[in-house]
Amino acid sequence: MKITHIGHSAFFVESESGNFLIDPFIKGNPQANFDVSDKKIDAIFVTHAHSDHLGDAIEISVSKGAPIFTTFELANYCARQGATVVSSSIGGKVCSDFADIWFLPAVHSSSTPDWGYGGTPAGVFIGIDGKKIYHTGDTALTQDLKVVSELYAPDVAMVPIGGHFTMGIDEAVIASKWIGAKTIIPMHYNTFPQLQADPFDFKRKVEAQGQKCVVLNPGENLEI
Ligand code: NI
Ligand code: MN
Repeated sequence: MKITHIGHSAFFVESESGNFLIDPFIKGNPQANFDVSDKKIDAIFVTHAHSDHLGDAIEISVSKGAPIFTTFELANYCARQGATVVSSSIGGKVCSDFADIWFLPAVHSSSTPDWGYGGTPAGVFIGIDGKKIYHTGDTALTQDLKVVSELYAPDVAMVPIGGHFTMGIDEAVIASKWIGAKTIIPMHYNTFPQLQADPFDFKRKVEAQGQKCVVLNPGENLEI
């Protein structure tokens, strides 16, 4: 399985069972240099409605026919714009033909590009091909993260480190410990002026607590 960091909180995952995007903020993303047009996309996961996460999801869903998996109100918003959707909510297992998916709590907010209510913000946990990937969305540090290691034991977790709107490095180091993933990938940093963080400072602190941390520059990937 190959996990490519598109930049910011956007990832492209290629697996034997299918290819999927998470939070595909591509066109307006100053970090992204990624072309979806030649990619097979089987699903799109969106953690919440903010434009740096919803990104190009609706357009890609319409052009590729790939369903958007997200929480209920945002799924309805996407459906009204012509996207194919699978709506969910926090905590229930969603079975698709290629993965098991859970949306998990994120302490944050969620509003659509037209400033409507975007529903509950979430992280997304994906079990596919025997691997477990957890993208935390834009969460603050919250004790809800402790449940993730106990219940889901992820192999890889993506964690925001840029601060201002999300956790900064110090909170994200604790979150990484609580989540308990073998490998941590930092995200949501250095995209915009408010989001400044040194991913290698984060890496040093995460590795000091016995976890692997992989810094992926935009376009770089990790094989698991
Ligand atoms: Ni957000
Ligand atoms: Mn964000």
